[in-house]
Amino acid sequence: MPADFFNDITVQPHTDSSLACKYFDGKAWQVSRSGKTVSVMSPADASLVGTLQIVTHEEIDEALLKAKKAQIAWEHTPLHARVKIVHLASDWIRQFEEYLTALLMREVGKTHDDAKSEILRTADLMDYFADEAQSIKGETLDSDNFPGFDKGRIALIERAAQGVVLCIAPFNYPINLAASKIAPALLMGNAVVFKPPTQGGIIGVHLTQAFVKAGVPEGVISCLTGGGAEIGEYLVSHPMVDMVAFTGSSETGVAIASKAPMKPLLFECGGNNPSIVLPDADMMLTAREIVKGSFSYAGQRCTAIKYVLATPEVMEKVIPTVEKTMDELIHEGDSRSPETKMVGPVVSEKVAQEIVDVIEEARIQGGVVLRGGTRKGAVVSATLLSNVTPSMRVVSCEIFGPVLSFVTVKDTAEAVSIINGSTYGLQASVFTKDEGTGLVVAGTLNTGTVQINGSPQRGPDHFPFLGIKHSGVGVQGVRYSLEAMSRLRPIVINKPS
Ligand code: G3H
Repeated sequence: MPADFFNDITVQPHTDSSLACKYFDGKAWQVSRSGKTVSVMSPADASLVGTLQIVTHEEIDEALLKAKKAQIAWEHTPLHARVKIVHLASDWIRQFEEYLTALLMREVGKTHDDAKSEILRTADLMDYFADEAQSIKGETLDSDNFPGFDKGRIALIERAAQGVVLCIAPFNYPINLAASKIAPALLMGNAVVFKPPTQGGIIGVHLTQAFVKAGVPEGVISCLTGGGAEIGEYLVSHPMVDMVAFTGSSETGVAIASKAPMKPLLFECGGNNPSIVLPDADMMLTAREIVKGSFSYAGQRCTAIKYVLATPEVMEKVIPTVEKTMDELIHEGDSRSPETKMVGPVVSEKVAQEIVDVIEEARIQGGVVLRGGTRKGAVVSATLLSNVTPSMRVVSCEIFGPVLSFVTVKDTAEAVSIINGSTYGLQASVFTKDEGTGLVVAGTLNTGTVQINGSPQRGPDHFPFLGIKHSGVGVQGVRYSLEAMSRLRPIVINKPS
């Protein structure tokens, strides 16, 4: 029963409809000495999902000290034992899939399908990490390859842990993008200090319990809750943190990077992902990918398509096909209603209003609202804007909501130049029936990944996933994350002459 498994994590019995969560100090679930909590309200119906402890700076110091001490023994724990623990934690997630799906729907307003797929994807990802960790290995190098050296030395290059990794997850995939950091960090022998988002912190607390129950030893994982303002800066600049893994906005990423100088960083930040539609594109496929890419999870994905670039003749075909596809695919409204497929609420009413304000700003600047542009509570209606220019905020900033803009260009070169001029560089799509042309255009684009005939996306999760410019630092994806969560340790044997 979830109640028995999760009973330790709440102050009141776990069966209560709102969950008063504790934080995990590395050893036990605790109520913070601050006496302060933060409330988590559901974007779906504004009900109280629960509360999170706001930990004190002293409690952060205590958890970090435990992590520092425990990390060395953990790194020396045989890999097969660490692998077993991560597999067991993923088994627990599968075991409680239904309960966790319902919690995720309530806490961040995901539709049932989106929430369930995040939970199952998380379990699959953790299993894949655990399997892949077993093939991460060091190497040896001989010295005589380099001019001037004989065979007098050999380098044994091991992979060592980074130390204590601070894992900061976002609200939009609060369990998946937490596990995508915690699992590789643990597998590579690091201790983890997990800072969940506030919205999404309750599921983060549950994820931590899955690792604790799976057998992560004392000190090796902690879950420190509280708002970014109260604990964020203190955590990222803490001298006992050896590495920061973060997903969130570019603004926060830049701020964190400035407070964690000379530390390894693994960041997935914002994106304003464009799609170029070439004249020969399959319009039905293109429209379907654009609609799915723009509006799934109400556009709250860093990989969501935010603008489409095409020449006037192509635009005449793209816009009506996208509109027709929206009529077929999108059922707006309350995320709890069974017919809602793609567009549920955004994270809060406040954010919904900010999105509507940016749409209005674009309209005043000459953009044409073809549909949407309004909100009901936290649900922003799926919005299409034409006549948009790259300097408008709907394109130049990351709008974390269901808004798609059409930017008309004179040719492909102009489209490429607009994309390359952006401060973001996560992903882009090129739609064309000629994959050769797609490859040529892809080769000119400064983004982490280019998709040909598909919408931007992170998965499959073993593919490399990276952003350039303000969209990220480092490379994620199963093997790449495992490598990032470890460092090379060359040991050079100088042979007696
Ligand atoms: O929001 C950021 C996520 O990494 C995007 O993942 O492409 O699977 O939706 P996704």
